[in-house]
Amino acid sequence: MTPLLKVSNVAKAYGGNRVLESVSFNIHAGEIIGVIGPNGSGKSTLLNAISGFTRPDHGEILIDGQPLQHLVAHQIVRHGVARTFQLPAMPEKMTVLEVIMAGGTAHHGFWSNLLNTPSVRRSERETRSRAGQLMERLLLSQVRDNPAAALSGGQKKLLSIACALMGHPRLLMLDEPTAGVHPNLRREMVTMLKQLAADGITLMVVEHDMHFIRELCERCIVLDRGHIVAECTPAELSSNVHVLQAYLGKKAHAAEKMTLC
Ligand SMILES: Nc1ncnc2c1ncn2[C@@H]1O[C@H](COP(=O)(O)OP(=O)(O)OP(=O)(O)O)[C@@H](O)[C@H]1O
Ligand SMILES: [Mg+2]
Repeated sequence: MTPLLKVSNVAKAYGGNRVLESVSFNIHAGEIIGVIGPNGSGKSTLLNAISGFTRPDHGEILIDGQPLQHLVAHQIVRHGVARTFQLPAMPEKMTVLEVIMAGGTAHHGFWSNLLNTPSVRRSERETRSRAGQLMERLLLSQVRDNPAAALSGGQKKLLSIACALMGHPRLLMLDEPTAGVHPNLRREMVTMLKQLAADGITLMVVEHDMHFIRELCERCIVLDRGHIVAECTPAELSSNVHVLQAYLGKKAHAAEKMTLC
């Protein structure tokens, strides 16, 4: 079966800093994959490379067999790939509803949006209705007319997920969705994300919260200094010597297993 996402030998360096080296993995449609690793191990850069926010130096990225690595971000959105950012930045003067509606135009590209082409205008009613459904689903209906920049940290995370969903993605990549989020909302996020997966969206989730990873994911990819050092189930993480070495920075001993999870 062709994987939904196939990443082969991807490398990226910034100057002399080799951030990703020979990164290869597959994700099949319907999977929920966790991406973990210490700070600076290359997780966000990997998401940037897949979503067109940075161009890999080497390697190939295929979505359903189609190469993405030479495309720019809005073209990649058209292939059904969406993502959120680790630190969601919200525009100062737009409401929650307006920001979500803008998320529905990400695939049109700069010129179509600027010129307000017929296809952009035609889709406005559809966009408004989808925005309403997503606000309901992501607990944002009460704040729909509030300035997006004034939302709480957790609400901004939900808003960025809603924006990413506007384009009906096949693959949704989330960069630290629970950072700074209250445990109650974290639990709700697990339920919401499982529901998205049940609706047919494949999920790739970068996270530091191991509890969240264990609750949500079926498989994990572990990055350390730009290399994939393990691919395993969440249950196997705490006994994987490469994972322990990545997190503890030295030869792992059985007694240290508890430190990770
Ligand atoms: N645009 C950039 N220019 C220069 N260096 C960069 C750039 N983006 C990332 N890096 C470097 O790449 C390395 C990996 O960064 P990245 O943000 O991918 O790590 P991460 O695994 O997401 O870390 P964290 O868990 O802290 O978010 C870091 O050393 C970072 O400084
Ligand atoms: Mg990061």
